[in-house]
Amino acid sequence: MEISSGRAPVIIGTGSAWPQRAVTNQDLQEIVDTSDEWITRRTGIRQRYIARADRNEETSDLSAAASLAALEMAGKSPDDLDMVIVGTVTGDRPFPACACLVQKKIKASRAAAFDISAGCSGFVYSLSMAENLIKAGQCDTILVVGVDRISVMLDWKDRANCVLFGDGAGAVVVTAGEGPNRILSTHIRSDGECWDMLYGEYGTPYVHPGLEPMTPKPFHVVMEGNKVFKKAVSSMTALSQKALEHNGLTGKDITMLFPHQANMRIISALAERVDIGMDRVYTNIDRFGNTSSGSIPIALDEAHRLGKLRKGDLILMVTFGAGITWGASVISWAI
Ligand code: COA
Repeated sequence: MEISSGRAPVIIGTGSAWPQRAVTNQDLQEIVDTSDEWITRRTGIRQRYIARADRNEETSDLSAAASLAALEMAGKSPDDLDMVIVGTVTGDRPFPACACLVQKKIKASRAAAFDISAGCSGFVYSLSMAENLIKAGQCDTILVVGVDRISVMLDWKDRANCVLFGDGAGAVVVTAGEGPNRILSTHIRSDGECWDMLYGEYGTPYVHPGLEPMTPKPFHVVMEGNKVFKKAVSSMTALSQKALEHNGLTGKDITMLFPHQANMRIISALAERVDIGMDRVYTNIDRFGNTSSGSIPIALDEAHRLGKLRKGDLILMVTFGAGITWGASVISWAI
């Protein structure tokens, strides 16, 4: 295993938060032409949480709750943070960055704050940024949030998409430490040629009525599910293998795989290809659906709080999302 010298980026706290309201497959049967049987068999999803803004469940609210939990576990105060990085495509507003609203809500007054847009890969992309800012000596302590409230951009009449997603946030605190238990490496990739396999389409633009015709249409997600499925399996497999090789590891060395929770069939295809038995794969897709950038950090926090991770465990996190983007991170667990 490669242990690089110098400042070690170490995860010292995790947190997560999700909306109160659980929406089951049976609930969705009431609004679109679908069935619990279809959703469960094709995706592994049984329920998801859907936010309500009138319950203070905006993207920044969920992020702030997850962040405060992560800071508490880390034994750090918001003032210790040099940077707040939020991976999201569904900030409260087009601007400012959701990270600035999180900064305000948790009172991280010293930090610089910005968002990263990488679809469902937002958390792993943000973690990669944090890892390298710490290695470079530019920051000592960074809050990394993965969050999405995809429900605001779903067309609830489109059964192919609306059954797949849920809302939620996860956060980690990364600090400069030392020793072998650290983020060992993070690898990120994109393929813009495939952007139109999965994208969010704007709603009606606010244009001068005399200059362009106004065609009312809501914001909505467009996805070619079959193509996304195949691309997800092939790219996550290849990058996992590269990440393992980079650290002199094989799938057999991994204590726990944290895959992006998009579809149970994608997860098992990936696990088989990288030689990680399903008993070493953490999944909570049945309860959360696909929470986009929230998916991996929510799972990580849940696994840690349930006592399923021990210091020195080797973790592989693998993600995939719109862009197309994907990423893999190998971590020697430190808490
Ligand atoms: N309920 C019932 N039937 C549905 C349905 C739903 N919610 N959604 C689609 N169907 C129907 C389709 O209309 C189609 O019917 P037809 O055969 O009469 O045309 C049939 O089910 C099969 O559709 P198909 O799209 O081929 O199913 P699939 O097995 O590929 O599963 C996905 C669809 C979306 C679950 C699957 O392709 C997938 O998970 N893709 C990856 C999605 C993903 O991970 N996205 C996020 C990436 S970050």
